[in-house]
Amino acid sequence: MANKIKADRVWYNTNLATMDPEIAAPYGALRYYAIAIHQDRICWIGPSLDFESNVDTNDAQDMQGFWITPGFIDCHTHLIFGGNRCGEFEQRAQGASYEEIAQAGGGILSTVAATRALSVEELAESAMIRLQALCNEGVTSVEIKSGYGLTIADELKMLKAAHQLSQTINVNIRTTLLAAHAVPPEYSGHGDDYVELICSELIPQVAERKLAQAIDVFCESIAFDLAQTERLFKTAQQHGLAIKAHCEQLSHLGGAALAARYGALSVDHGEFLRANDIKTLKKHGTVLCLLPIAHYFLRQCRTPPIDRLRSAGIPMAVASDLNPGSSPLASITLAMNMAVINFGLTPEEALLGVTRHAAKALDWHQNKGQLRCGFDADLLIWDIDQPSQLSYELGSLNLVQRVIAATHREHADLQGAVTDV
Ligand code: NIG
Ligand code: FE
Repeated sequence: MANKIKADRVWYNTNLATMDPEIAAPYGALRYYAIAIHQDRICWIGPSLDFESNVDTNDAQDMQGFWITPGFIDCHTHLIFGGNRCGEFEQRAQGASYEEIAQAGGGILSTVAATRALSVEELAESAMIRLQALCNEGVTSVEIKSGYGLTIADELKMLKAAHQLSQTINVNIRTTLLAAHAVPPEYSGHGDDYVELICSELIPQVAERKLAQAIDVFCESIAFDLAQTERLFKTAQQHGLAIKAHCEQLSHLGGAALAARYGALSVDHGEFLRANDIKTLKKHGTVLCLLPIAHYFLRQCRTPPIDRLRSAGIPMAVASDLNPGSSPLASITLAMNMAVINFGLTPEEALLGVTRHAAKALDWHQNKGQLRCGFDADLLIWDIDQPSQLSYELGSLNLVQRVIAATHREHADLQGAVTDV
């Protein structure tokens, strides 16, 4: 055929979980299909039998029925930090609550002290172990927040460490400024002054140097109130940064609706969301990001109102929330499994949560999160029978190949966890 599409690689005899909403089958599944990539993009998808007459390539692999999914996107992590919170883990095992520990000056602030003591290089080095664990399970894109520095220099240091990680490991990174994670000890009792510092100095610097795409605020009784949160959102908007927020995790403060009104990409946690909040999320197209590992780790009783979110058609992302206090478990498939078992998502919703909906939570939905022509060639090849297996099985999933758009090479340093077929 004269006008064949040129491709670097083709995989045929494969089953595609496209997650494309325009394909009616569950998971947007296409069976015995072929998928071709060229220069970092998916360039052709069609029935296996048609690929040779449509695609010109020197590299075609028979996948013998393996499944391909979009690369997983972990859209909420705090994976850069110093130290650990084992002591707090012991205290909690003896009955202390997360809030009590925070109010006594522990919790986030103890990680702040440990993080301030480390250099960019030391932070990146310790975070690499956690990031590698996520990548080994199929994460190809990850959001990383600051929030354990809480001074201008230390917040910038965390963001630099995040950027440094992206140069040493093959993963797409989006960074978020979470300077409003806790009131630092220097500003104890003067939260408004700290918010002023973030607004007048940190946000402008971060925006100008493009060190983060978004800001995040921990809007909670133990952190920042609604007025402070709104001031931060306004400033972020003025500087062209996107908005995300930790809301309604431990109580109902109204942060989710406020964030949605400011056009937030996502509001995250949501255990205490109310019906009116859901209407506001719907109106503004905001994603609700579920963090089931934190919910489990803090032994929360209340779950986010999944049935209401589902019937309202709110896109639900699922993320690890990887952090030393409420989610020290570096596993996106564990988050998917818990989203199904503890929150009541379907396995298809769990997979959407780490693909299409996670992409939306990071404003990446135009080119990531689906297998679709023109989208980035971030894909995972699995030796599995069904896509539901991805949230069903933990620890024994067979990820046979991980392809990342930036280089369209397999990950080179996965320590043997993923091998070529
Ligand atoms: O998403 N809620 C605030 N931030 C984190 C916890 C951070 C910590 O405890 O260190 C979370 O759960
Ligand atoms: Fe978080």
